[in-house]
Amino acid sequence: MSKFRTIWPTEDKYVEVIDQRQLPHEFVVVKLKTYKDAENAIKEMIVRGAPLIGATAAYGIYLAVREMIEKELDGSFLDQAFSDLRASRPTAVNLFWALDKMSVALDDADDFLKVSWESAAALVEEDVETCRMIGVHGLPIIEEIAARKNGEAVNVLTHCNAGMLGCVEWGTITSPIYQAVQKGIKVHVWVDETRPRNQGSNLTCYELTKHEVNHTLIVDNAGGHLMQHGMVDMVIVGTDRTTRDGDVANKIGTYLKALAAKDNNIPFYVALPSTTLDMTIRDGLKEIPIEERNQDEVRYSIGKNAQGVIEPVLICPITTPASNYGFDVTPARLITKIITERGVCDASEAGLLELFPEYK
Ligand code: MRU
Repeated sequence: MSKFRTIWPTEDKYVEVIDQRQLPHEFVVVKLKTYKDAENAIKEMIVRGAPLIGATAAYGIYLAVREMIEKELDGSFLDQAFSDLRASRPTAVNLFWALDKMSVALDDADDFLKVSWESAAALVEEDVETCRMIGVHGLPIIEEIAARKNGEAVNVLTHCNAGMLGCVEWGTITSPIYQAVQKGIKVHVWVDETRPRNQGSNLTCYELTKHEVNHTLIVDNAGGHLMQHGMVDMVIVGTDRTTRDGDVANKIGTYLKALAAKDNNIPFYVALPSTTLDMTIRDGLKEIPIEERNQDEVRYSIGKNAQGVIEPVLICPITTPASNYGFDVTPARLITKIITERGVCDASEAGLLELFPEYK
């Protein structure tokens, strides 16, 4: 579907990713040659988005295996890689899912190098297919709204980036949008800028531009007003972790959009690859660890100046402290439906188990 992926193997069997910190201004490719490179890419948000974090961690294990063999290190090096990668970011559960999957694959392996390379590649392909299927199941929702509006544009509001840049290809929330646009349905996307890291303005706007999807950037606080004035037909967001009872952790500010959607009777959808399910917990508010990031992400804003230089600018008094919670939890009761690779369900244990009976 896409002109590019977000992570890919090189001929010399390393891995390359896009440095997403430079987008939309520059398209810079970074080569990951060690597991520490992969860990750093996740920590520093060179890559971000739950599925892509998982894919990078999986390749990180391959890179650790390769280094262990090339430098004739013992197994404690690989153990260290698992624990360093596990600690790289706390909220998106795909990270732990991917590492567990790599660990199981290596448990039964004779040829560690081959198995880790092939397992990471398989995990990446699985993400591509999962996202494609989220689009297949989400498309009828957009089609139904378009039919109701007699072919007028369907206005979708989204927060953060849960597009292909957060995954490998297709994206989660963008997959139904791209598939609708491919079918000739008119779609317009309201993109929340998503302070402080601006995943909306920097990344969602970038990829919607590349895919020629009609969109408008809005400040994070505009959504409620647009909803009150009938300018939003549906909200769709991604997720970093979804509990057994259907609570959803996603980028900070998602909860406020869900509240505004509820008050205005606008459907609020979550696009969920099952790799983001955490069926071991129920209460998102109490049990999902919320990442707290450096306060300078809030105190400074980064952009391209008139001279074409990308630089941070201070936006508050130099002595003002800031708080920087990365995620919030949207309770299941505010979610209209969850769109998964197996179909659409209620945000509840019963709904999830209907599609994923293996968790009974
Ligand atoms: O801090 P980020 O950029 O990793 O946060 C990403 C999000 O919150 C996304 O919406 C989520 O991971 C879904 S990505 C398909």
